[in-house]
Amino acid sequence: MVPAAGRGERLGPGAPKALRELGGVPILVHAVRVLARSRAVETVVVVAPKDGVAEVRALLADAIGERESAVLVVVPGGDTRQESVRAGLAALPPGVDVVLVHDAARPLVPVDVVDAVARAVADGAEAVVPAVPLADTVKQVTPAPTAGLPEPVVATPDRSTLRAVQTPQGFRRDVLDRVHAKAVQEGIDATDDAGLVERFGGRVVVVPGHEEAFKVTRPLDLVLAEAVLARRRS
Ligand code: CTP
Ligand code: MG
Repeated sequence: MVPAAGRGERLGPGAPKALRELGGVPILVHAVRVLARSRAVETVVVVAPKDGVAEVRALLADAIGERESAVLVVVPGGDTRQESVRAGLAALPPGVDVVLVHDAARPLVPVDVVDAVARAVADGAEAVVPAVPLADTVKQVTPAPTAGLPEPVVATPDRSTLRAVQTPQGFRRDVLDRVHAKAVQEGIDATDDAGLVERFGGRVVVVPGHEEAFKVTRPLDLVLAEAVLARRRS
């Protein structure tokens, strides 16, 4: 499943982030192509911006044509990522036991990462996240009421125990269905599906991610993504 219904506010003005171009091709198309290339993927459910469902369907008819066995479904998303994932879950065909949730905003994830996550779920994990070590030391602070003011440091977690998590995150379908239903009941809104599994007592494991699976979030990320793509093509 590919949540792609966000507006991309941090990227600045323009089209919804998933439809912004990278190397002349919409970010979403890159993301869907990687998934369709994985032998582990049978069906791709794309959660599109509410007013962009028809446009996204047309765009993707091409992208996935190269692997006819991958079925493509496009549904409208919600106002939060969690709502969008829930819309995607509701559109999954029966008989699917394993779900990979992959941000459209991570267009350059290597297919090996997709395969590794799927394999870890097939091997028995209920929730799997790809992750990488952090380059920066991280400080926990007391956030200032106004941006720009100095913020007192509360703690410095040991960097060797921290990981930055990426997608695709892999789940047993029943587990993901259950934690999303509970989140609605309890009024919780999370940006991370694995975080919901943890919160409700499930076990999440980490497998190695990849530096090229970074999320296109701010304008500088687009510059980096263009450079990575150019390097791959050279
Ligand atoms: N997403 C979604 N539905 C939403 C919000 C986010 O499907 N209502 C998706 C985005 O399209 C993206 C992924 O979740 O592929 C990760 O979210 P993020 O990087 O935060 O994207 P946006 O929410 O679009 O960006 P921003 O937070 O800067 O507005
Ligand atoms: Mg967002």
